[in-house]
Amino acid sequence: MSDVLVVNGGAPLKGEVTVRGAKNLVSKAMVATVLGESRSRMFDVPRIRDVEIVTGLLELHGVKVTPGEHDGELVFDPSNVERAGVDEINVHAGSSRIPILLCGPLLHRLGHAFIPELGGCNIGGRPIDFHLEALRRFGAVVDKAPEGLHLSAPDGLHGIKYHLDYPSVGATEQILLAAVRAKGVTELSNAAVEPEIIDLICVLQKMGAIIKVHTNRVIEIEGVPRLGGFVHRPIPDRIEAASWASAALATKGDIFVRGARQADMMTYLNVFRSIGGEFEVDDSPSGGGIRFWHPVGDLRAVALETDVHPGFMTDWQQPLVVALSQANGLSVVHETVYENRFGYTEALAQMGANIQVYQDCLGGTPCRFGRMGFRHSAVIAGPAKLHAHDLIIPDLRAGFSHLIAAMAAEGRSRVHGVDLINRGYENFEGKLTALGADIAR
Ligand code: EPU
Repeated sequence: MSDVLVVNGGAPLKGEVTVRGAKNLVSKAMVATVLGESRSRMFDVPRIRDVEIVTGLLELHGVKVTPGEHDGELVFDPSNVERAGVDEINVHAGSSRIPILLCGPLLHRLGHAFIPELGGCNIGGRPIDFHLEALRRFGAVVDKAPEGLHLSAPDGLHGIKYHLDYPSVGATEQILLAAVRAKGVTELSNAAVEPEIIDLICVLQKMGAIIKVHTNRVIEIEGVPRLGGFVHRPIPDRIEAASWASAALATKGDIFVRGARQADMMTYLNVFRSIGGEFEVDDSPSGGGIRFWHPVGDLRAVALETDVHPGFMTDWQQPLVVALSQANGLSVVHETVYENRFGYTEALAQMGANIQVYQDCLGGTPCRFGRMGFRHSAVIAGPAKLHAHDLIIPDLRAGFSHLIAAMAAEGRSRVHGVDLINRGYENFEGKLTALGADIAR
């Protein structure tokens, strides 16, 4: 099938979509199954490419992954975890960032791990120095080879005291997954505490881990010799939910996002309301969600900066910027998590959006990217009429923002590389069609 989507934009998106388990929890919980000695079950697993990639990696290592009896349920049987060949694993090279998280689980189960070259969105350098430093401190021997990373743990893994220079989500997960079965206690300070991390801790606790989350980003993990399986319903995908909310604003639409949960989205909801967007939380017992809609009047500009939890998520930024291009006045967005996450604004500018990006830390506190030459602040002047354009999808979240812009623009846009969006948005074409979008491959 062609990966070009023809979008006839200009109509409001209206209707209902459902979000399932969060991509950034589901993929990590799947990795955690390797640590257990019995079967695990997970519900509400979205049908997205990242889940397929992790399924492939688990299967290569002997984990049996089968569908459960409910729609969206997967069952994992890790009783025959085994070493996989470098060539087989390398089929997944460059496809995702999740493989790096297999280090701890594979070292505990097999005493060895091979990690292929990582993929993921091109939104900055995305180093893994925290991961490797922590693993070495746990006792792993890391050998960097041209084909990937070989790790071994001749004396097993032992608990550590570790301070993260920045509260990295991935490095926090790495340390959790290594520490739960390490000998002794691990104390991690300046940890990330995103809801997806707390949900991963819930998964590990169900498996038998002992993890205490203290105040001030300190997490203490008491290693245990053995873990079992888990049965888990993941937190809903708050990035996807916010993407649809921003799509409602940008297209002057009205979207009920079934499954969206207020507690995970408070910071987004505050900004949404400041802009003038309307929302209503439905907590009905039949399975609630949040309805997001465009007000009758104009939208208002805002100043915001992305940050670690409980700040405004970096992944909420791109779709919201499309909505801000339709707001009255000057909006300022300061990106403090990734140094290179505004590349997508060039395409929006070609569509008529008025956006300039700057190297300075605009509108907020100076961040670690200030004076480093990265264009990590954006000023958006609105409202600007968007017109159709040919677009090439650069990465997942930017890609969704391109799609929204094409929906909001008058005329026919051709969006190239849309398959990338399947990495994180389940059935996005079906959902767009249900919302009244005029699209065709
Ligand atoms: N960092 C380092 N060294 C490290 C690790 C991270 O300097 O060893 C830096 C990064 O370069 C970045 C910052 O720390 O500047 C934050 O990175 P983090 O490790 O928190 O990000 P991640 O774990 O690679 C996850 C999500 C991202 C999301 C970020 C921030 C997954 C698979 N990815 O990435 O989601 O933006 O946390 O919340 O969970 C997406 O879903 O599209 C996506 C990119």
